[in-house]
Amino acid sequence: MYRTNTCGELRIGDVGKKVTLAGWVQRIRKMGSLNFVDLRDRYGITQLVAEDNADAKVLEVIRGLGREFVIQTEGVVCERQSKNPKMPTGDIEIKIEKITILNAAETPPFTIEDQTDGGEDIRGKYRYIDLRRNPLQKALALRHRMAIETRKYLDSQDFMEIETPFLIKSTPEGARDFVVPSRMNPGEFYALPQSPQTFKQLLMVAGYDRYFQIVRCFRDEDLRADRQPEFTQIDCEMSFVEREDVLQMFEGLVKHLFKSVLKKDFAEPFERMTYDEAMEYYGSDKPDLRFGMQIHDITSCVQGKGFSVFDTAEYVGAISVTGCAAYSRKQTDELTEWVKRPQIGAKGLIFIKYGEEIKSSVDKFYTPEQLSKIAEKCHAEKGDLILILCGAKRKTQTALGTLRLEMGNRLGLRNPEEFKPLWITDFPLLEWDEETARFYAMHHPFTSPKPEDMEKFYSKDKNQLAAVKANAYDIVLNGNEIGGGSIRIYDRKVQERMFEILGFTQEQAQYRFGFLMNAFKYGAPPHGGIAFGFDRLCALFGGQETIRDYIAFPKNNTGRDIMADAPSVIDNSQMDELFLKSTFKKEEQ
Ligand code: AMO
Repeated sequence: MYRTNTCGELRIGDVGKKVTLAGWVQRIRKMGSLNFVDLRDRYGITQLVAEDNADAKVLEVIRGLGREFVIQTEGVVCERQSKNPKMPTGDIEIKIEKITILNAAETPPFTIEDQTDGGEDIRGKYRYIDLRRNPLQKALALRHRMAIETRKYLDSQDFMEIETPFLIKSTPEGARDFVVPSRMNPGEFYALPQSPQTFKQLLMVAGYDRYFQIVRCFRDEDLRADRQPEFTQIDCEMSFVEREDVLQMFEGLVKHLFKSVLKKDFAEPFERMTYDEAMEYYGSDKPDLRFGMQIHDITSCVQGKGFSVFDTAEYVGAISVTGCAAYSRKQTDELTEWVKRPQIGAKGLIFIKYGEEIKSSVDKFYTPEQLSKIAEKCHAEKGDLILILCGAKRKTQTALGTLRLEMGNRLGLRNPEEFKPLWITDFPLLEWDEETARFYAMHHPFTSPKPEDMEKFYSKDKNQLAAVKANAYDIVLNGNEIGGGSIRIYDRKVQERMFEILGFTQEQAQYRFGFLMNAFKYGAPPHGGIAFGFDRLCALFGGQETIRDYIAFPKNNTGRDIMADAPSVIDNSQMDELFLKSTFKKEEQ
């Protein structure tokens, strides 16, 4: 037997037991006549000790040890002289009787500590070493627990987990597909699924009325902290449901996860907000509700007073930042530069300092009484700093939303241990793209319009179409979109109309989605569903917004696996077999 116990297990009650442990050497140190070895496995660290007068063979092995050697030891559990209350095993140590090196190790390229000295690249290259560190072990343990609890909840609600294929038909809509050449079908390609969307709908047609899958999805899109090219969804679909049924069911899942994984009770129903309200008050379709600082439309209050910048703007909006009226010139200048960065794109920033007196950067145009009116409109209180942006409505609201988040960060209002979930509903069905001069589905082309907007859906007028609302919803947690779904179209004619609006000819629609439209001929039930971003959900539960640490082997931000060095060139014979032409010269390979 390699071990009788793990390195996180033994306590004062075990004193006197003879045990065998195995693990990695965390630390070796000598204090006086005592030789200590900290032995680590994923359960914890146990201190091993041998005195200078111990067996010569034992001492020789200890002298030969280095960090991360894999060893096995036999010994007796003893009470420690000086206890370490910070460690669960801190009351005991193992008096070494026998010690064996199972495998030597080269000195690791960085320390296996919570705060390691390794930079991101080196840790990525040696991911299997990085994964030994506590924070990553905790992250993966949390992910495991989340997956188990998700399965438990959904199973208890009669959902069946069904696998869907990874080699599917390319249906480029939304992100770009990753494609796989087919050797047996020269010149043809599979795509890796961006999500199992069409398959789960087909499962509804097949009568599996509650489906789920914890499933890998692939999207060839630009990467960010919360985006990976391959990521995992909790993908779900239900038949014979309306929006409310779906929201209730999956609010239940999130509450179950909060309770079972984080021991947090959510008695109240999650907040709900329409897309229009979210944009109006938070400048974002994923508002962070851990703090207030809502956006206020002050257009009518500020226009007509001779300040042409405001007078010519479509929209003037403001946020009131608590307790910042005393900001110095340097601080307001810095904020002005911040909003002018291309990512925000504001032309300038106007502010009102609501201190003992009320003063603004536009005092020339506004009397103190008028400024007080604006402050009132912004629900500002004495001591607040009012920040104002103006311009085109949506763009300005979005900029104010970003500024709001930044001020929330600066004031420490975004506590990662506080959780504010909410539903966003009533998204627009379609988004017009100027560049390609066509509509795109805001969620995806299978989302149903809201029943009351059916007339507009059949209109030929662009503005009418732009006003159609979708029966779609997102779930948002602390300013992050953690899931999205919709009630689907299940009527072939409605689906055909949707493809028509998206600019597909009948032939194109048939070529890409014929299998789904055909299925709608054979008894498709009303259905709807949702998919959660599982990596994001795990990261947020762990108090982080970056998902990389919650994925065992993630890609870096240029989509590379820097450990295995993928993607890589393949050799010419492989290329030939796949009927691909190499654009690389042999020597480059
Ligand atoms: P959607 O495209 O909104 O919906 O995706 C669902 C959720 O998946 C997460 N997500 C990602 N996570 C990490 N990396 C990525 N690149 C990435 N892209 C998306 C987000 C998002 O909310 N088929 C529909 C769902 C449905 O209608 O049922 C879909 O895929 O958290």
